[in-house]
Amino acid sequence: MNDLLPGAVERWQHLEATVHRVLAAYGYREIRLPIVEKTELFARSIGTHTDIVEKEMYTFEDRNHESLTLRPEGTAGCVRAGIENGLLHNQVQRLWYGGPMFRHERPQKGRYRQFHQIGVEAFGMEGPDVDAELILMNARLWRALGIDELVLQLNSLGTPQARAAYREQLVRYLESRRDELDEDSRQRLAKNPLRVLDGKNPAMQEVIAGAPSLLDHLDEASRRHFEGVRATLDAAGVRYAINPRLVRGLDYYTRTVFEWTSERLGAQSAVCAGGRYDGLVEQLGGKSAPAAGFALGLERLAELLSVPAAVAAEASPQVYLALPGSDAERPGLLLAERLRDGGLRVECHCGGGGLKAQLKRADRSGARFALLLGDEELAKHCVAVKDLRTDAPQHLVAQDAAADYLKQRLSASA
Ligand code: HAM
Repeated sequence: MNDLLPGAVERWQHLEATVHRVLAAYGYREIRLPIVEKTELFARSIGTHTDIVEKEMYTFEDRNHESLTLRPEGTAGCVRAGIENGLLHNQVQRLWYGGPMFRHERPQKGRYRQFHQIGVEAFGMEGPDVDAELILMNARLWRALGIDELVLQLNSLGTPQARAAYREQLVRYLESRRDELDEDSRQRLAKNPLRVLDGKNPAMQEVIAGAPSLLDHLDEASRRHFEGVRATLDAAGVRYAINPRLVRGLDYYTRTVFEWTSERLGAQSAVCAGGRYDGLVEQLGGKSAPAAGFALGLERLAELLSVPAAVAAEASPQVYLALPGSDAERPGLLLAERLRDGGLRVECHCGGGGLKAQLKRADRSGARFALLLGDEELAKHCVAVKDLRTDAPQHLVAQDAAADYLKQRLSASA
């Protein structure tokens, strides 16, 4: 679980603001959800035999001996909230949420126990158009963030019925090669055979490559749905790779699933993943409603991001007001207020000290200008303006005119 310090936070703010802007451009609205949910919600949605539910949840009993869990993802809670608040039945909803998620995984670069997602869920739309729109929205977001290296992998898991038939074939195949399976795959074979396809052990890759392909076993309606998604992506010029082994680590998916990955991130390469989950609303007690969505991994996206200089600069004050004068504190605070009234970002020196120490702090603040309010300036209702970033000579300005003067200098050099 990481602390996020000033300096890194600005990158996150830029990331989040850009995501919010793109989501709004597609009509998505924010929903705020609790971080803690009943444990059974996750078992019922993500699936009892998934790594998340079996090994990774932060689960505890509260004072009433109720089993609660820090959310490992947001889809389950979003569906629960949608059902409880009557948002889903016979309605179209485009929702997003953000915040921390918790998984007790083995930490490594890009994989943390508290991490952050922005998740997007679209309810009430069953056609392939919305699956494609979610992906177009991703592509627009990458453009807005200046990230151009992401690769899209796409698959269809079909309906649960078609998947059950495929599962039988897969089990037969895996049983026939049981001697070659590693321990993890044997366990998965017993509990959740599709997950064997997701195995990362290099020694397993040949067995996995030889497995029958789920895409060859799609039901007719899912096959047409998948074609629809692909046709729209083709028409929009979004490139993708079909990956028949993409099965996802959560059990609620039906039909379309996708992941965006970057080679720059090492083993934890997925920055965004999602898909369709038409059965989940009903499974959690609502009236059946189609749904699809994705979640962005913010730690991983932040890693790929370079913040434009203009955006980064906004994190620093423009002006540092130094107060070397003997009675300068109160007039200084009041002058700083007036400068802020004029629209400037001002850090006002507090705590006294000599001019040299104050200028050192001014420099460290990142401000472009230091203003000096000494005894002489106080007496004349002036302030001295020192450019901290160039050799320009110091300049005396009337306090009344200071805000306009500074804004002019700032815009002249912008
Ligand atoms: P997920 O694939 O489990 O899907 O997570 C989505 C993204 O969250 C991943 O691609 C990754 O970027 C990030 N992520 C996951 N675990 C970690 C971790 N331990 N540390 C850092 N980042 C991580 C879901 O959570 C689904 N709820 C997505 C979804 C929404 N599907 C439909 N709607």
